[in-house]
Amino acid sequence: MIMQRFAGKVVVVTGAAQGIGRGVALRAAAEGGRVVFVDRADFVAEVAAEAQGADTAGFVADLETYDGAKAAMDFAVQRFRGIDILINGVGGAIRMRPYAEFEPAQIDAEIRRSLMPTLYTCHAVLPHLLERGGGTIVNVSSNATRGIRRVPYSAAKGGVNAITQSLAMEYAEHNIRVVATAPGGTDAPPRRIPRNAAGDSEQEKTWMSEAVQQVTESTFLKRYGTIDEQVAPILFLASDEASYITGSVLPVAGGDTG
Ligand SMILES: NC(=O)c1ccc[n+]([C@@H]2O[C@H](COP(=O)([O-])OP(=O)(O)OC[C@H]3O[C@@H](n4cnc5c(N)ncnc54)[C@H](O)[C@@H]3O)[C@@H](O)[C@H]2O)c1
Repeated sequence: MIMQRFAGKVVVVTGAAQGIGRGVALRAAAEGGRVVFVDRADFVAEVAAEAQGADTAGFVADLETYDGAKAAMDFAVQRFRGIDILINGVGGAIRMRPYAEFEPAQIDAEIRRSLMPTLYTCHAVLPHLLERGGGTIVNVSSNATRGIRRVPYSAAKGGVNAITQSLAMEYAEHNIRVVATAPGGTDAPPRRIPRNAAGDSEQEKTWMSEAVQQVTESTFLKRYGTIDEQVAPILFLASDEASYITGSVLPVAGGDTG
């Protein structure tokens, strides 16, 4: 029997068109949530419709802009009359390179992709959670806060951890919990939306394989996780089962703590 931990709740999931975000959004819908699937990909409404029999909606927004983040939260409130839970899935390393090989514009792009969407959506959702009398934010960070070939991404996810801890401290008195998971390497089907739209050079593929090797060897279990193994802890933290957990970043990385 499927649990119904999100019955009566409005859940907004960002980065819901594929990967971990898609898995989270579909399972939250299967567990009774009214779910808004937010993504930059124009096919996100089709993904939302995969949740047959559930009350879901897709919304296209570029969350690297504040206007996009605000529009997504406003849409959710208009459609479902409020927000209870925000799950921030948008992110992901665009390029893998030794730090000296990053061009300045590439450093900026990593921060825009993996820090700014969470910073913006956390701000844009707060008025709605305050109006509701509380709520929960789950950020998807990464164990790559310690890792090779992606220092700008590491910095972005370190920022996500800082948002999680400081926002949790500041808004606890308003009944708002803020938590995060830090996934390790996660196996996924080939991406419909590539991380790097320009494609990876042969040299970048080599640097990526070095990062994959480091990530795998840093785990106790000596393997990547699955999307389901990431979805489960994210939704545990989002649910009322985790009501006494806030400000925490949970490593979900086979023993690697990042
Ligand atoms: N996959 C992994 O191995 C892994 C490991 C550690 C952490 N993570 C984190 O988990 C999260 C999900 O990872 P994934 O591998 O499933 O991601 P993914 O790259 O497969 O999918 C990311 C989704 O976010 C969307 N997106 C990207 N930029 C956007 C923007 N500006 N506005 C709106 N939508 C945007 C994409 O369209 C895509 O649907 C990310 O935050 C990532 O950093 C992933």
